[in-house]
Amino acid sequence: MSDSSVSKLQLKGGMVGMGMIFDETYRPFFENAYQHGFYDSKTGVIQLEIAAVASRTGGRAAKYKEAAGQDINDFASYIEPDSIGQLLAHDVDFVCVATPDDRHFEATMAAIRAGKHVIVEKPSVLSMQELDELAAAANEEHVLCKVVYHKLFDPDHKKLRTLVHDGVLNHINTGYCTLLEPKQISGAQFAEWIQGRNPGTYVAVHYIKLIDFTFGGRLKSVSCSGQRGIVGEAQGNTWDSTQLRLVYEYESGREAAFDIHTSWVTPDNFPGYVEQEVQFRFDNGIWNGHSRKRGVECTVEEKTPISLKNSMNNHYNGTFVEPDGRRTQRGYGIEVLEEFAREVAYVEHGLDDKTREQRITELSGSYYNDISSDRQTVAAVHAMEAILEQHAAGNPDCIVRVNEDAGGLVLYIPGQSAGIVLYDGQV
Ligand SMILES: NC(=O)c1ccc[n+]([C@@H]2O[C@H](COP(=O)([O-])OP(=O)(O)OC[C@H]3O[C@@H](n4cnc5c(N)ncnc54)[C@H](O)[C@@H]3O)[C@@H](O)[C@H]2O)c1
Repeated sequence: MSDSSVSKLQLKGGMVGMGMIFDETYRPFFENAYQHGFYDSKTGVIQLEIAAVASRTGGRAAKYKEAAGQDINDFASYIEPDSIGQLLAHDVDFVCVATPDDRHFEATMAAIRAGKHVIVEKPSVLSMQELDELAAAANEEHVLCKVVYHKLFDPDHKKLRTLVHDGVLNHINTGYCTLLEPKQISGAQFAEWIQGRNPGTYVAVHYIKLIDFTFGGRLKSVSCSGQRGIVGEAQGNTWDSTQLRLVYEYESGREAAFDIHTSWVTPDNFPGYVEQEVQFRFDNGIWNGHSRKRGVECTVEEKTPISLKNSMNNHYNGTFVEPDGRRTQRGYGIEVLEEFAREVAYVEHGLDDKTREQRITELSGSYYNDISSDRQTVAAVHAMEAILEQHAAGNPDCIVRVNEDAGGLVLYIPGQSAGIVLYDGQV
C-alpha cells in the first residue's frame, strides 16, 4: 500500500460468498483499491480494505489469503453456521453479496438490517415480494441497496443505449440474445447448488436487464420453454437450457418481442469462455453484436481452447502488462464495483453540503443500479421461475401476464381460464 501525505478516507468492505465471481471481479476490485486507492471528485482519495468475508466452509477464503499474500490486507473469515451474522458484527461500511442466487435475499436483508450498504449479484432476488421487502428495508435503514449488472458498463452496450437515447435508432421491434455457458459451470462449478435451478435465472437475467434498461417500456408478458436431461433428470426440475420470451409495450402503443436463449451445457472445448450474441431490430436500423468475437482470435499449442480460450473478452476483465510495466487486472466487470464503492464513499464522506439522507435519495429510487430499478427484471425472473416450476410439474407452455386487474404477475396454464396470481401488487 503506498503512503502519501494526501488525506484519504477509509472504507471497509465485507464479502459474502467466495466463489467464482469473487475470484473474477471482487478480488481484483479489492486488491486494486487496497494497493492504490481510488479517487472521486465528490469525495477525494478513497482507501479501501476487505475487512471480513463469509462463506460456507472458508476453504477458498483460506486459499485466497495464502495466494494473495501482500496483495491484500489481512481479513477475518467466518464460516457457517451464521457466517453472515458474524461478518455483520464486524466493522464494515458495505457488504457485497455473491452467494448462489436463491440465497441472495437472506444475506442482503441481514446486511441492510445491520445498517450496511449492500451490493448484490444479479439477479437481485427471485420474487417481487422479496424485492419489495428489500426496497422497504433499505429505505427504513437509510442505506444503499444496489445490484451488479456489469453488461450496462460494456462500451458496446453503452453505445447501443446512446444511439437509442439520442433517437438515432428508432423504435425497437424485436430482438434476440444468446448466452451459453460451458458444461463445467453446471457440472462442476455449481454442482453443490444446481439442483432445481436453471440457466435462465443465472444468465438470461443479464440480457433481461440490458433490454429493460436500454429500451424502457412496459413489460407485458413472459413465456419460457426449456430442456432437461443432461444436468438432471429428463422430467426433473433442473434445466440444461431455456428459451425466454418477453413482450414489451412502448408509449406509442406498439410492442416489441425479445427472445433470450441460454444454456450451461455447452462443450468445455468451446473456443470462448461463453458465447454471447445479440441482434436488435428497429424501425430504421439493426444492431448486431457479438461480445466474444470482438476482433481477437488466438491459438496456442497445448493451451487453447481449454486452459486458454481462442476468443477472449478483454473488455470485461483482463490481466495485462501495462505499457509502463505494471501488472493490472481491469475491465467493466471490475469498474461496476468501483462505481458502487464511490457511491458509498459519497454517501458517507461527500464533500458537498448535502446531508447523508439527501445523497442516499439521489442514488436510490430510479437510479440505474438501485434495487427499485430492478422491478421489471425481477418480475421477468419471478415469472420464468414459476413457468419452469409448472413445466416440471407437468404443465408446460404457461404464460405470465403483467399488470392485469387481478395482479401484477398472473400465471395462465393452458386449458385453464383462471390465472394464478404470483404477485398481487403492480410491477
Ligand atoms: N456478474 C456476473 O457475470 C456473474 C458471474 C458469475 C456469477 N455471478 C453471480 O454471483 C453469485 C455467486 O456465483 P459464483 O459463480 O461465485 O458461485 P460459487 O458457487 O462459485 O460460489 C458461491 C459462494 O457462496 C458461498 N455460500 C453459499 N451459501 C452461503 C451461505 N448461506 N452463506 C454464506 N456463504 C454462502 C459459498 O461458500 C461460495 O463461496 C450468483 O448470484 C451468480 O449469479 C455473477
